[in-house]
Amino acid sequence: MDNMEKLVRERRSVRTFDGRELTAEDKEKLCNYIASIDNPYGLPIEFKLLPQMGCPVVVGTELYIGAKMKYTPHLNEAFGYAFEKLVLYAQSLGIGTVWVGGTMDRGAFEKAMELSEDEVMPCVSPLGYPANKMSVREKMMRKGVKADSRFPFEEITFRNSFDTPLTADAAGKLFLPIETVRLAPSAVNKQPWRIVVADDVAHFYMQRSKNFNGGRIDMQKIDMGIALCHFELTAKEQGISTEFVFEEPNIPKKDDMEYIASYKFKI
Ligand SMILES: Cc1cc2nc3c(=O)[nH]c(=O)nc-3n(C[C@H](O)[C@H](O)[C@H](O)COP(=O)(O)O)c2cc1C
Repeated sequence: MDNMEKLVRERRSVRTFDGRELTAEDKEKLCNYIASIDNPYGLPIEFKLLPQMGCPVVVGTELYIGAKMKYTPHLNEAFGYAFEKLVLYAQSLGIGTVWVGGTMDRGAFEKAMELSEDEVMPCVSPLGYPANKMSVREKMMRKGVKADSRFPFEEITFRNSFDTPLTADAAGKLFLPIETVRLAPSAVNKQPWRIVVADDVAHFYMQRSKNFNGGRIDMQKIDMGIALCHFELTAKEQGISTEFVFEEPNIPKKDDMEYIASYKFKI
């Protein structure tokens, strides 16, 4: 996988597929890639292809992919990171995906995943080739969550503290890693990621949205995992070395914010 910027800019949620089955070659590539997917928390995640599934927002394919893991701290961030790697790789093959965490028969998918008591299956995605035209329902869904818009760079990026916005122009070599975070998919397009750059560390915080409670499965922490994935992979591509750390800095934050993790970086 290369050219993160292109992949991220071209990716969108696909809910209308053209009915073709995945080619054997694409399926094999996906399965080989899945075996290599890691996450910064080192937590095991088991992916499974699920034929003959369905969910109300998706038409034109019955093939899904799900993933499950043990119930453990940081499972959501780890899941978000790992599943997004799959999403981006699929994009590189021309395979459409959409993160689905709410609009499905969760019980049916958990059964198909053979989930045990101590495991969770946070999200699934259909897999297939995008249709030329979106269904009316898909168009309406996109409108409903303003799926084509994102917060401006300086509303999610800060220098040293949350008092000082960091503009795209001033971000220098960190521009692209942060820009790919900005453009990432998130549950109901809430974009909870906030980044504070202080010296040679980028600190990631979650701005919790109202009505999004953090339970066992926490969609907004999954979003944060997606953000970590985009930052790290894009930084690597830009020749910036990163080290993942979990050390909350002494930066004052609002009550509805939560520290997630940081990347030390060397430009
Ligand atoms: C964790 C997560 C859960 C999501 N759950 C659903 C879902 O249940 N149903 C759905 O149609 N879209 C779901 N989405 C897709 C988002 O609505 C979509 O990513 C967002 O609106 C931005 O649109 P885009 O992906 O086309 O850029 C989910 C996305 C994420 C990251």
